[in-house]
Amino acid sequence: MVLVTNKELMVAARKGGYAIGAFNVQNLESVKAIVEAAVEECSPAILQITPSVVKYAGMGYITSLVKTAGKEVQVPLAMHLDHGEDYETAIKCVDAGFTSVMIDGSFLSFEENIAVTKRVVNYAHAKGVSVEAELGKLAGVEERSVEEKDAILTDPNNAVEFVEKTGIDTLAVAIGTSHGAYKFKSAAKLDLERLKLINEKVGIPLVLHGASSVPSWICEKATKYGAILDGAKGVAEDQLQQAIKLGIAKINIDTDLRLAFTATVREVLTNSPKEFDPRKILGPAKDAMKEVAKGKMRLFASSGKA
Ligand code: G3H
Ligand code: 13P
Ligand code: ZN
Repeated sequence: MVLVTNKELMVAARKGGYAIGAFNVQNLESVKAIVEAAVEECSPAILQITPSVVKYAGMGYITSLVKTAGKEVQVPLAMHLDHGEDYETAIKCVDAGFTSVMIDGSFLSFEENIAVTKRVVNYAHAKGVSVEAELGKLAGVEERSVEEKDAILTDPNNAVEFVEKTGIDTLAVAIGTSHGAYKFKSAAKLDLERLKLINEKVGIPLVLHGASSVPSWICEKATKYGAILDGAKGVAEDQLQQAIKLGIAKINIDTDLRLAFTATVREVLTNSPKEFDPRKILGPAKDAMKEVAKGKMRLFASSGKA
């Protein structure tokens, strides 16, 4: 099957009341983990690549892996640029065969974010590629005042203006999540009231970044084999399910995959100190990553939707 756009997958997801998992990939093992999970769960999936992965793996190598996956399996897959930092990066990815790109102007002023996003939309849409952009800043918001929260999180009225002026296909919102393994100091709580308002006002599917749950069972396994993860905390699974009901149609997961992969590498190296065949170390790590991805597909209710 040819690779499809995020827009196509996410419009169907929003309508059907489920979300597509968008999984960060860096190499052969992570691509195979996600694709095998999608096939076994009969689920659509988004494989996303950051600019730092393009630097690490090389544009040709990493895109060839995802394109090969698209040719070999029957479930719908998208190849998406995650956190494209400028116009040039986004355009390079459109030209390299990505089916969807994110232009992340969330660090710019509102006007500058609109301007760069619109330029990317014009280029990408002419080539049939869908565009995600971000409004608001991803940061932990517990223990912040209402004024501080308003300054960081996505403003529903600004979101309407942003979508109208840019013509984007999907919008990443800031509602209290953040990237990495240390998202919250106390109880994890998303601003679901704000999400409800944005969803009512904006007609396009929404994206949630920084959505890993940092499950204790993975942290315990990693810690058992030597990792230090003091204070790691993610988004509760029931909060993600509520967010899906309020218009989130793409959920970004990177940290949980990394944790599962490296916990298993640690386990194999500890339990089999004589092992030095990379396949015997990375194979089980790939399988651990696959199991986490399958769990997300079931949680997001995309299983069986391919
Ligand atoms: O937000 C995206 C990732 O979790 C960070 O990815 O380390 O490949 O830039 P990166
Ligand atoms: P996590 O760090 O919570 O996995 O978020 C990943 C992400 O948002 C990638 O864009
Ligand atoms: Zn992100």
